[in-house]
Amino acid sequence: MAQDDVFKKIVSHCKEYGFVFPSSDIYDGLAAVYDYGQNGVELKNNIKQYWWQSMVLLHENIVGIDAAIFMHPTVWKASGHVDAFNDPLIDNRDSKKRYRADNLIEDQIGKYEEKIDKEVKKGAKKFGERFDEAQFRATNPRVIANQQKRDELHARYAEAMQGPDLVALRQIIEDEGIADPVSGSKNWTDVRQFNLMFSTEMGSLSDATNKIYLRPETAQGIFVNYLNVQKTGRMKLPFGIAQIGKAFRNEIVARQFVFRMREFEQMEMQFFCQPGTEMKWFEYWKRVRLAWHEALGMGDENYRYHDHEKLAHYANAATDIEFKMPFGFKEVEGIHSRTDYDLSQHEKYCGRSIKYFDPDTQESYTPYDVETSIGVDRMFLSVMCHAYTEETLENGETRVVLKLPEALAPVKCAVFPLDKKDGLPEIAHEVVDELKFHFNTHYGDPKDSIGKRYRRQDAIGTPFCVTVDHDTPKDRKVTLRYRDTMEQQRVDIADLRSLIENRVSVTSLLKRLGAQIAGWDK
Ligand code: GAP
Repeated sequence: MAQDDVFKKIVSHCKEYGFVFPSSDIYDGLAAVYDYGQNGVELKNNIKQYWWQSMVLLHENIVGIDAAIFMHPTVWKASGHVDAFNDPLIDNRDSKKRYRADNLIEDQIGKYEEKIDKEVKKGAKKFGERFDEAQFRATNPRVIANQQKRDELHARYAEAMQGPDLVALRQIIEDEGIADPVSGSKNWTDVRQFNLMFSTEMGSLSDATNKIYLRPETAQGIFVNYLNVQKTGRMKLPFGIAQIGKAFRNEIVARQFVFRMREFEQMEMQFFCQPGTEMKWFEYWKRVRLAWHEALGMGDENYRYHDHEKLAHYANAATDIEFKMPFGFKEVEGIHSRTDYDLSQHEKYCGRSIKYFDPDTQESYTPYDVETSIGVDRMFLSVMCHAYTEETLENGETRVVLKLPEALAPVKCAVFPLDKKDGLPEIAHEVVDELKFHFNTHYGDPKDSIGKRYRRQDAIGTPFCVTVDHDTPKDRKVTLRYRDTMEQQRVDIADLRSLIENRVSVTSLLKRLGAQIAGWDK
């Protein structure tokens, strides 16, 4: 199945099974804004719990905060967002559609890469076992020509983005003959800068002095509280502050479902350290964050690092962790070495000292900061994309199953009485009442066949189903069914909790991760 079709199926599955709805759906939605339904919110909460606990439980020197979305307007002047948080946009005069100029050029670079990959695949097919990819890439004339075009374009693009140089970006679009992906028209306007922050007014007057912004990143709430936390928590460097919260960006091109939204959620941690130690911590957090992803068991080969060539105005090093989505490897998380930029800027703008007095060296200095920043919604999307599976069963039927990491599944266990009679519903309720205190357990009404009930749980990714049948009143045993293998096992009711709990708890993930990172150099 084409990857585009797979993605469309995932989007409609999300709606059909209560994971994600378009915002204000009865009014036909609001562009790039989404609501999470009854199953989506559980999955999202599990992701957040895993992240939060991996920060504040596994690291003794990390604490959390919850800052307000509205902040003093000077925060955004100091942080550079008022002046520099822009995207280069371009309009097509014929289609009246608006695009990010950088995205159009990146897509063009991607096209050269696709051509190269196609040639390589053809070569591999032709030469079979004898195929030497490195040699093929170095000698095949079509690969060499496309590689050269790709590299030249990439170099021009990287240089144009440095300023950014808007005229140069426009010229690249012209020279490459890039057309509107929808209409095919090449009738472009000039490239302009577009600030991504949403603004509103505070209080009853709407003059410029009352203008405030909806935060475009949660990080600034941490920087302006750095001193409060350091002093009240008597924190010694190095230490981190973690936060989960909403962020807002007026994205020019919001696309790919919850991948690029106008209202989204971030999980960010700022790790403050001694100047000069930031690269060591940058490397540490790169490794720890990748290990966090890998502990979920979604395939190590589906992740890769992407080091930034163009650095944000505040960073001296930056890497993305990318995940293989149906539309290619895409950024899910960023790790940025932000130097002392933010704290120094706030110090300058607020006129107060935000310096740290180091009791060991008896010196005062502004700490450096290494940030880990992951979007909850992108993480959610990567989990959904990886989990969505269509299987053909022996009887020829198709089974749609979400093979979610068990600890993230919205519902961990569903309990079904086989029948309405003979006290089976009462026993099923008893089982639910025992298990529900330990993990999310649902009761499944016997109005549908057992097969239908299994399918519905498969479709929302429930790892365990329990069936109470006519023998249960006699032997206190039930059938435990495993989602991925569909294997069934007869077990004592008394053993259910221990059989399920270890596999579905976030604690089990944390233990796996904790054991892995325990020995890492800090
Ligand atoms: N504080 C640094 C920062 O905000 P970023 O790379 O702009 O850095 C961090 O964003 C993460 O936030 C991204 O890796 C992505 O997961 C998420 N994110 C950013 N913009 C988003 C959007 N429009 N919709 C959904 N998630 C977004």
